Amino acid sequence: MISPSILSANFSNLEKEFNIMNEEQVNFIHLDIMDGNYVPNISFGPGVIKSLRTLTDICFDTHLMINNPEKFIEEFAKVGSEIITIHPDSTIHLNRTISLIKSFGLKAGLAINPHQSIDVLDYTIEDLDLVLVMSVNPGFGGQSFIDNSLRKINSIRDLIEKRKLETMIEVDGGIKLNNAKKVLDAGADILVAGSAIFDGKNTRENIRKFKGLL
Ligand code: DX5
Ligand code: ZN
Repeated sequence: MISPSILSANFSNLEKEFNIMNEEQVNFIHLDIMDGNYVPNISFGPGVIKSLRTLTDICFDTHLMINNPEKFIEEFAKVGSEIITIHPDSTIHLNRTISLIKSFGLKAGLAINPHQSIDVLDYTIEDLDLVLVMSVNPGFGGQSFIDNSLRKINSIRDLIEKRKLETMIEVDGGIKLNNAKKVLDAGADILVAGSAIFDGKNTRENIRKFKGLL
């Protein structure tokens, strides 16, 4: 499945990009929320999501790169996020924050940064709908894929199989047409792609090419 990240899209013409995503029936739309605190960049917040919600019915896959996400989850739920993914080191009581996401009827995801081991999944994975493997350091689009993410995807896939779970694996950062296959082969279910899709001219063709690989 494919989840285009609009971070690299032209924000002065998002309606056009959303029409293309609707017509090409992408599986999810990945919304990168950055607070200039957990990550060294600022993107957009719930107000923008509320406006975007009027443009599509596609599932909003919301990636919170913010400190203390528990303070904002209700607001993201209200404006139409359907998946909320948080980072384990952004919240003190992770189990409580995951429960809070689910209490609004949303799917909960946990993101693992490039330097982080998957140990945190030992006592959380049963509560998660999705694990997001960060294959770049969070904060910016257009970075290069970190290769040891493949081993991490493999290990998470093994864990999911061993525990007979349905948890999805999503991979985010540096995904291009020329490395997407090895990410899928390693065990990914969902590919996030930003700069590889929103290159300013060929959004539709790029989505079609990604879908052709799936
Ligand atoms: C990085 C974000 C990614 C980013 C991906 O912090 O989480 O979703 O937009 O962009 P590309 O595909 O350009 O690496
Ligand atoms: Zn992301």
